[in-house]
Amino acid sequence: MEQVKNNTLYIGGVSTKKLAEQYGTPLYIYDQDSIEKRIEAFKTNFRSEQFATQIVYASKAFLCKAMAALVEKHKLGMDVVSSGELYIASQSGFDMKNIVFHGNNKSREELQMAIDQRIGTIVLDNIAEARELAKFKMKEDMDVLLRINPGVEAHTHQYIVTAHIDSKFGVLKTEIKTIKEIVQIIESNPNLHFKGFHAHIGSQIFDRNAFKAEIETMGQFVSEMKQEMKRDFPTLDLGGGFAALYTNEDKPIPINEVCAVIIEQCESINTQFQLNLKKILIEPGRSIVAEAGYSLYTIGFTKDTPHKKYIFVDGGMSDNIRPALYQAKYRADIANKMNDQKDQEVCIAGKCCESGDLLIEKITLPEAQQDDLLVMYTTGAYGYSMASTYNALRIPAVVFVKNGKDSLVVHRQTYEELISKDEGEIL
Ligand code: LLP
Repeated sequence: MEQVKNNTLYIGGVSTKKLAEQYGTPLYIYDQDSIEKRIEAFKTNFRSEQFATQIVYASKAFLCKAMAALVEKHKLGMDVVSSGELYIASQSGFDMKNIVFHGNNKSREELQMAIDQRIGTIVLDNIAEARELAKFKMKEDMDVLLRINPGVEAHTHQYIVTAHIDSKFGVLKTEIKTIKEIVQIIESNPNLHFKGFHAHIGSQIFDRNAFKAEIETMGQFVSEMKQEMKRDFPTLDLGGGFAALYTNEDKPIPINEVCAVIIEQCESINTQFQLNLKKILIEPGRSIVAEAGYSLYTIGFTKDTPHKKYIFVDGGMSDNIRPALYQAKYRADIANKMNDQKDQEVCIAGKCCESGDLLIEKITLPEAQQDDLLVMYTTGAYGYSMASTYNALRIPAVVFVKNGKDSLVVHRQTYEELISKDEGEIL
């Protein structure tokens, strides 16, 4: 929860000034309560009497051991896409049965690690992967899903769309012969159980009809497969993509409503196509963490050019690549001047050596001075997880706040850590 006291922004009952003094900036701040409320909103609303449901947190949005522990505390599943994400989950004590392992190019080592870690579910992306996986000797059972490209496009930024016809992800829904073969390959291994299909149609989706179209298309597809193979496919995994509010123009579908739309549409295809569905999964990432996350920066110099007024902050594209990569828009405030009049049109720029390192192109803020604090809102998804050490800027610390308390969950990368992999030998 945000509050303003003495002209200063408080997050989760903790002063941003105090956080900056204690942990330094740039700093990623997460309101733990807000994450937990969103998780609970999904859990309460994503329910049906016709089938079981599971919320699988897409860890690519934000992952560290504390986040994995939070996901475990609320008993969600976790979507991972690499051995690295798998490792972080395992190190946090996460129940590996609730892992859903995605990815279009999992290596043999990654498959072996998934088997050794006894993960519950793997999502195959292509036939070569099915062949590779089926060769492994296993001691435990694993559920298998196949990613289908339903050809449904959600109208978001084109880089974020993952379901166009030439997508690198999944098997096209029309490639029936290949899909049949994949099912047969998987079932040749007694420990592998082919349960059904997965689709993910994009990210930052505002339109209910995109989800309805996805489910309708998948319903028809599963029905066709049922007839082709004379068997049931009891599990359907619909991916993530639920939008977050970045600017006031954004109108994300509230969690309870988007859950209701999906449940209703799944119940409808289940009846209409007699699918005999037993379990529906969704994989929200962004919608759980984006709005719960804040980036706090210290303002350094300002600069006036003929047409612009710049405010420079002590981070930039290294801790939030989204403005440069997707032209993503954000809201911000001067965290120690919350009630001051906003009368300066400015451009917020980072400190990286690149002209494109602009965090916010145009925003109206109170007059900024050196050492003021800038807070950017809705940076909880794909900020920390896409951070880099470009220009050898160190990865910022991550702090969780709740009920007036704060806890350092990831420390700021140290200079020693910056060169800890660096052997320094020349020939
Ligand atoms: N499931 C699958 C299979 C996915 O590919 C993704 C995201 C998700 C779930 C979670 O989607 P979400 O609920 O977070 O939208 N880096 C981009 C977003 C890339 C999303 C990739 N896949 C960004 O910063 O906007």
